[in-house]
Amino acid sequence: MLKGKSILLGVSGGIAVYKAAELVRLFVKAGASVHVVMTANAQKFVTPLTFQALSNNAVGSDLFSMESESQISHIQKARMADLVVLAPATANLMAKMAAGIADDYLTTILLATTAPVLVCPAMNVKMWEHPATQRNLRTLAELGYRIQPPAAGFLACQEEGAGRLADIEDIVESAIRLLTPPTLTGRSVLVSAGPTHEHFDPVRFLSNPSSGKMGYALAKIAARRSAKVCLVSGPCSLDAPAQVERICVTSAIEMRDVILKISSKQDAIVMTAAVSDYRPSEKAAHKMKKSPEGLSVLLEPNPDILASLGAIKPPGQVLVGFAAETENLAQNAKDKLIRKNLDFVVANDLTRQGAGFAYDTNEVKIIERSGETSDLSVMTKEEVASQIWDRVERLLSGGQK
Ligand code: CTP
Repeated sequence: MLKGKSILLGVSGGIAVYKAAELVRLFVKAGASVHVVMTANAQKFVTPLTFQALSNNAVGSDLFSMESESQISHIQKARMADLVVLAPATANLMAKMAAGIADDYLTTILLATTAPVLVCPAMNVKMWEHPATQRNLRTLAELGYRIQPPAAGFLACQEEGAGRLADIEDIVESAIRLLTPPTLTGRSVLVSAGPTHEHFDPVRFLSNPSSGKMGYALAKIAARRSAKVCLVSGPCSLDAPAQVERICVTSAIEMRDVILKISSKQDAIVMTAAVSDYRPSEKAAHKMKKSPEGLSVLLEPNPDILASLGAIKPPGQVLVGFAAETENLAQNAKDKLIRKNLDFVVANDLTRQGAGFAYDTNEVKIIERSGETSDLSVMTKEEVASQIWDRVERLLSGGQK
């Protein structure tokens, strides 16, 4: 995700410095080359050696060091960064940045770089709430700095409130987003995900093993490409991806009602939800007691949400469906493409290892209206999502349908 990208991590002096070490590890794991710059105060919490070992690059700290400046100068460091991340950013660092002060290695780089800068503040809650800090924050936003707001919680200073460094995973996600071309800017997209639960009493339901992972990956990748994303999700245990509006539903009827209400405003809709085809005809008001005679539940068909969307599809909207099959993959998927009036269908064979429900990977065939078929090898669901959005973008920009 960050392959080939150069990230400069600026670390200033607060107790959250130890968390920045983990941030380096995650950036490196995602493929970035990381150069760390520490303020003098940051080095009182954690030594440069830790960051050097994790980043595999020399740590910059002394503006006047003959040795480090002769190897790679601070101006070169400012130039080569694709992104600068400041974590933790102290109140002092933010104040200097707001005033344009350049009195050490890090603040000098901040004036010299033209790369986007993500500021991740961490401090005591009273310092965070202080009008001077809040004024500086507004100034930084006006100057074009991106802010990753701190989280609220129990702070190292034994106080409760906002000021904790944002979750490391959220910082990584913001960094990835800043480095992803915003190819879906101005586009609204809707993704459905997860299973539906069709209750026959308050504690029992009919469902399927869908984990929601494919739909959540699609929502995440679209948000990274700067789309306005609405994720309509059946019950699952996943957290909503950053910058995504999630609407949680339980049954197929609820899912249909939510989707049909907002479908006409969407540039693209991708239905990954494993909608239950049937629902119990009746739902008992109370938990059904067991009986020695066994239990028969009468089922009635659920509406086909995707077919309804296909029937009312406005011109220019891109509609994508999934086809989960255990036999005749290509033929069944093509039938769904025509029957539901789709632009393309993503077919997966549920009998294949590493594909379908609950896996982190998927192996799919993408069949387009033109008949063109792409067989994708086993890849992560995020990679499959990228392939899907690439095609959606092509269709939205007037490419062949
Ligand atoms: N789908 C839907 N509403 C339903 C059933 C399915 O919107 N009631 C959507 C799914 O989200 C998916 C596509 O239709 O994008 C195909 O779903 P799938 O379960 O593979 O096929 P079905 O249409 O249910 O047909 P069958 O069960 O006979 O394979």
